[in-house]
Amino acid sequence: MKNLPPSEMIESCSVAGPGFVNVVLSKNWMAKNIQKMLVDGIETWAPKLRVKKAVVDFSSPNIAKEMHVGHLRSTIIGDSLARMLEFSNVEVLRRNHVGDWGTQFGMLIEYLFEKFPNSEDANETAIGELQEFYRRSKNRFDSDPAFKERAQQAVVRLQSGEPKYHEAWAQICEISRKEFDKVYKRLRVDLEEKGESFYNPYIPGVIDELSKQGLVEESQGARVIFIEGVNIPLIIVKSDGGFNYASTDLAALWYRLNEEKAEWIIYVTDVGQQLHFDMVFSAAKRAGWLSADDSTYPKASHVGFGLVLGEDGKRLRTRFSEVVRLVDLLDEAKNRSKAVLIERGKDKEWTEEELEQTAEAVGYGAAKYFDLKNNRLTNYTFSFDQMLNDKGNTAVYLLYAHARICSIIRKSGKDIEELKKTGSLVLDHADERALGLHLLHFSEVIEEALTNLLPNVVCEYLYNLSEYFTRFYSNCQVVGSAEETSRLLLCEATATVMRKCFHLLGIVPVYKI
Ligand code: ARG
Repeated sequence: MKNLPPSEMIESCSVAGPGFVNVVLSKNWMAKNIQKMLVDGIETWAPKLRVKKAVVDFSSPNIAKEMHVGHLRSTIIGDSLARMLEFSNVEVLRRNHVGDWGTQFGMLIEYLFEKFPNSEDANETAIGELQEFYRRSKNRFDSDPAFKERAQQAVVRLQSGEPKYHEAWAQICEISRKEFDKVYKRLRVDLEEKGESFYNPYIPGVIDELSKQGLVEESQGARVIFIEGVNIPLIIVKSDGGFNYASTDLAALWYRLNEEKAEWIIYVTDVGQQLHFDMVFSAAKRAGWLSADDSTYPKASHVGFGLVLGEDGKRLRTRFSEVVRLVDLLDEAKNRSKAVLIERGKDKEWTEEELEQTAEAVGYGAAKYFDLKNNRLTNYTFSFDQMLNDKGNTAVYLLYAHARICSIIRKSGKDIEELKKTGSLVLDHADERALGLHLLHFSEVIEEALTNLLPNVVCEYLYNLSEYFTRFYSNCQVVGSAEETSRLLLCEATATVMRKCFHLLGIVPVYKI
């Protein structure tokens, strides 16, 4: 204790039993730092990472197949991780690795030709729901050998780049894309599509490179890479000579490292794909593309997540399993939030636009928070009632808490921007101090969330922040007290940090309730 250098950070030290030195932070130092953040902006509290450029591969649904709840989870979790990296000044490539290639396109194209001999007739409305179209073409494929034969040839013709086939493929992709975009638009998630097909031209070269390094072996007619500790090898060329999911992922990883120069590549999918990614990463390590040591860059990380269960305890599938249904799910969250606001008479108080925006922020925010608040690996049970509860650890409760703080500041009649410059913050009361200390943890919490790729860490921090605030607010009078200026600044600091947490979770804050 005697050897600790003097620091303005430290108020006092004491020896607490054998081996422990208690350090009490200086309340002046704490207050000064919070006030500095208020003046210079919360960006000054961004964690400093060692990476400059990252890829987050998330959402990634499959063309003409259902965009299921798993893709929704990937979208919400991936967006949050991308936001945290962006906040930390990392350049993020938000990649939608859509499944837009594969043998299923042969049957889809053939079916399209059969239904719409005149290609102009094949538009979105005529085709209707793509998944239905997929089902019908699959039926045709399974029941009619002649059709099956044509579908198989269609794949070859598509792969050899025949224009008519390529156009039909592009048409099908475009219809799916429009459906996916409805979900992204509601969630306000930005993604840049580089689907599987994008990497096709790179596959042969990448396999060549791996072969030259002696990593590729022959096994039962296929070309494979053996991975230490795994019984089955990673198949990179099928026995029929075709490429697969793994060939594409190896090419994509190569591209991201060499062409895009990303240092950290993050993949967000359900835990079911863990083995696939482990094997792809191991192969890349053997090839020397990735550092063998996971604590250095370039590195790749798989962010797995668990299932969403229905209230019957089974995998949430049937009711909300399709694209349109996902949109319905989000709409229902919004509509329920709107109904509550109307019940509370807000339709008379607010403009129609305010009502819509608040309902949307609360409804979609609730859906996202409900997903993000659990450790991503645990399964959770979907429930509108729990999700939209205005008490407990929900976005509804937290958004209201934020709005309440904003209203305290508004009602004081003080110009908060002016106070930031002229007033000063003091942390005399124990509850002020506890709140201040929690605020100062913000930066390391975000860093921890990023290190372990766990958005729930931010949720937990946010919820605790609202608890610290409640304790402070119930024990310390703000408006009309001798400490009014300081306490208003503490309110503002809390609201600022809460807003940044919302932002990092992809939730739009509300200012009025
Ligand atoms: N399309 C895949 C699926 O729906 C997810 C793709 C994840 N990204 C990747 N690079 N493999 O399961």
